[in-house]
Amino acid sequence: MKLVSAFLAVTLSTILPATAQDKVAQPAPAPSGLPPEAPYQPSLGEIMTLQQERHIKLWFAGSASNWPLADYEVDKLGDGFGDVRKLLGPEIVDQHVGAALGALQKAIDGRDAGAFAAAFDKLSAGCNACHHDLDHAFIVIGRPASLPYSDQSFAPPK
Ligand code: HEC
Repeated sequence: MKLVSAFLAVTLSTILPATAQDKVAQPAPAPSGLPPEAPYQPSLGEIMTLQQERHIKLWFAGSASNWPLADYEVDKLGDGFGDVRKLLGPEIVDQHVGAALGALQKAIDGRDAGAFAAAFDKLSAGCNACHHDLDHAFIVIGRPASLPYSDQSFAPPK
């Protein structure tokens, strides 16, 4: 009985086409030139698209006095600018938006709608100043007129 199953195993492995066996056994090769452990690095344009979304959400959160959401969005904007700092260096980021982000955080912490609006405009001016400095003056940011995210509630928590 033992002999028979050993014989069967040997025969099967010789009958099965070698190529099919190799395909199962071999892991897929990594795409050439890319080390498999390379961390994903979004491009500046991709980061900016996210920053635009956060900028819009921040405005509607602050305008609705939804301070926890505004706090969250200003935090995310800060993370995004952290990624920009890695690409462009810290100076140009801090120069243009550092003070405005600080003022926004202060206004949100103090739940001050007037200070929030002023700091928001200061931030938008900083976005535009950097676009101007880096040959993208045609990208002009301001207060958003309408909220494109109709699936999310911006009403303040009760
Ligand atoms: C440190 C400089 C700098 C700051 C600060 C900055 N940007 Fe940008 N932004 C750029 C550059 C450079 C580009 C062009 C990126 C590209 O095309 O590769 C860009 C592109 C953009 C785009 C176009 C993205 C697209 O694909 O359509 C938007 C929108 C944008 N920025 C929004 C903002 C907003 C909103 C802020 C402020 C909250 C901001 N940016 C702050 C440098 C900056």
